[in-house]
Amino acid sequence: MTDQQQRFLRNAWYAAALSTELTDKPLARRLLDEPMVLYRTASGKIGCVTNRCSHRFAPLSLGKVKGEHLECGYHGLQFDGTGACVLNPHGNKQIASNAHIAGWPAVERYGFIWIWPGEAAKADPAAITPYPFNADPQNFTPVYGYLHVKGNYQLVTDNLLDLSHVEWLHPMFAQSGGVDAHKTEYGVEGRSVFARRAKPNVELQGLARLYWTSPSKRFDARSNMVWHAPANMVFDLGATECGAAPEEGVCLPNAHLVTPETEFSSHYFWSVARNRQIDDDAASAKLQGIAQRIFSTEDVPMIEAQQVNMGAVTDLMSLKPVSLEPDIPAVRARRMLSEMIREEAAGAGRAAAE
Ligand code: FES
Ligand SMILES: [Fe+2]
Repeated sequence: MTDQQQRFLRNAWYAAALSTELTDKPLARRLLDEPMVLYRTASGKIGCVTNRCSHRFAPLSLGKVKGEHLECGYHGLQFDGTGACVLNPHGNKQIASNAHIAGWPAVERYGFIWIWPGEAAKADPAAITPYPFNADPQNFTPVYGYLHVKGNYQLVTDNLLDLSHVEWLHPMFAQSGGVDAHKTEYGVEGRSVFARRAKPNVELQGLARLYWTSPSKRFDARSNMVWHAPANMVFDLGATECGAAPEEGVCLPNAHLVTPETEFSSHYFWSVARNRQIDDDAASAKLQGIAQRIFSTEDVPMIEAQQVNMGAVTDLMSLKPVSLEPDIPAVRARRMLSEMIREEAAGAGRAAAE
């Protein structure tokens, strides 16, 4: 068992990049505190291997994609997506056993690149948290963004599962009546945790207001967050005529995907889809700009300042923080994730002892 298996869940799908970040050039990215390189092959498959050639340790991100393989830019060794060295252009062309490097399963789904940094045999793309609204162009248009966060990834999860922070951190979306104006339900479903906030019969407010064309001056709004381990969240945001079914109204379903870069920094990928003005590029640009601005100027600075105050600590609970009612789902998610990491480490320990 390595130290890293104890710090992060390994047998899980993590978002590694936006699909649009992966061009015909390999992309270097530190993920789960390991230098990795992502690339798209000629046939469209995704590769993810360690970003260090086995020969003279050149970063493979300085190489290029050759057909289905990644070629080192220094002396031309080629690797497949499992990390196996498949071509040595030199001498007798033999491939030494120590020429192979680590590689991990990787796929593209819902506008994101996903990696499975654990045991390859357990990787099943069907287990990726579904974001169907990002693959439904008849009904939804998504916009995407990326944020680098100088803070532990679980602080981002805390932020997203705590719906109450809107009232203070995002005053432009705050409601008259404050946090007492609505009721939030919390719970666990299998290995997911949810926070659901119904806001029945409220004044037009929030992002949904941008797309409200009805003459009604009030609507039923909702903001429902669901967390899946390790830090993949689905946010059902929307509003409809009072008493009407949610799908009849404005639907703005989001993806929020957080992946550790190191213990103290995170990659935060997001998307917001909408079922209104779906062919309007200007509306897409406006929505992308609003969401990116809110996350980058309001949420991220607060999370980074928290990490500064926590210093070299990543386990917030070890600092014995005060717990408030809206922390319930985030604390549950933290416990569930710790349990999964413990189970995985115990399983790896047993396998190593056998
Ligand atoms: S450093 Fe990669 S082939 Fe030499
Ligand atoms: Fe926020």
